[in-house]
Amino acid sequence: MIEAGVRNLVEELQAIRAESDRLFGVLNDEALYERPIRERHRVLFYIGHLDGFDSIQICREHLGLKSPDPDLDLLFQAGIDPDSSHLPADTPADWPSIEQVRAYATRCRKHVDASLERATDEVVALAVEHRQMHLETLAYMFHNFEFDQKRAGIAPPLEDRTDHKPKNEWRDIPAGEAILGKSYDGSFGWDNEYDLVSRAVSTFRVQRYKVTNGEYLRFVREGAKLPHFWNRRGDSIFYRGMFQEIPLPLSWPVYVSLEEAKAYADWRGKDLLTEEQFHRAAFGSPNQEIRRYPWGQEAPSWEHGNFDSKRWDPEPVDATPRGASAFRVEQLVGNGWEWTKSVFGALPGFKPLPSYPGYSANFFDGAHFVIKGGSPRTAARLLRSSFRNWFRGDYPYVYATFRCVEN
Ligand SMILES: [Fe+2]
Repeated sequence: MIEAGVRNLVEELQAIRAESDRLFGVLNDEALYERPIRERHRVLFYIGHLDGFDSIQICREHLGLKSPDPDLDLLFQAGIDPDSSHLPADTPADWPSIEQVRAYATRCRKHVDASLERATDEVVALAVEHRQMHLETLAYMFHNFEFDQKRAGIAPPLEDRTDHKPKNEWRDIPAGEAILGKSYDGSFGWDNEYDLVSRAVSTFRVQRYKVTNGEYLRFVREGAKLPHFWNRRGDSIFYRGMFQEIPLPLSWPVYVSLEEAKAYADWRGKDLLTEEQFHRAAFGSPNQEIRRYPWGQEAPSWEHGNFDSKRWDPEPVDATPRGASAFRVEQLVGNGWEWTKSVFGALPGFKPLPSYPGYSANFFDGAHFVIKGGSPRTAARLLRSSFRNWFRGDYPYVYATFRCVEN
């Protein structure tokens, strides 16, 4: 992995473009016309969207250049996130052919390359991070394709010691200050990350590890529904990985929706983290110093956690002790986002980005909740403490985990 800031931004853009081309190459061609998540577009939309977005943001909005493809720009401009009663009804025939979409993406890329020299760091960073975020959500989408629709041999076989069951303990977090957001210091951030705000957090207890498949299995045995990433075959339960299915790895964190996380916490008489409590547990410390990452100031590496494409699937909850926070809480960053029960909203001082006004504001609707930390597919750049992500509480496709809290 490359440390953020070591490469210049144009090199980062080239690298992430190559990665996106490789990711689309995971699927066979028929899969490109399919929609494995009913609330999202067909895969081919994203082939046009990634380069279309760069051209719209860098060339049209930022540099004021005329677009070679205004009609296709409109078609590929924005993704969707409907609730389950307003699902998209388009058919593959409503879209241009895959050849036409690829040709549009190539024209956009050339258009961007011809003007990159004149673009500011800010708009190039916007393009890089937009693509990085999509590569992650595309991984959630591709996870739902049948294994035979994906090219094999991309990832090493999954393995887990099924007898390994890490014992979850409680950590006491004393009352103190949580710092959310970021200041306008010139470094790149999305609109929802501003401004810097301090919040008082009362004392609470939190689990050392994320809730594991093994722990959640007890809840399923009591009658809870199977999480989206599990399959039952006869009496056995399996984890459905990106490229293969394996017997349920009991030491890995369970991927669930917020509703499932809440139900589990209720069943145990516990609570879930708030966004403030997450910040306190992850970046706070007994001496009130605020850390850059849970483990300190050091740039993220794979010894600290499972992120930046270290794997396609999780690893055991106790696999990365070097990533523990000052309060010895592990894997707050990486190995799956952490659900918070906090509704996604504006921090004081929020200003929408003029060229992309709906990026966050369209989701300040009370129906989306904050997730923090990062998953195996989250880019290192996005692990900064101020980065916020959000999903609907019943969305089961995201690589999201949780841990219980006692208030
Ligand atoms: Fe997008």
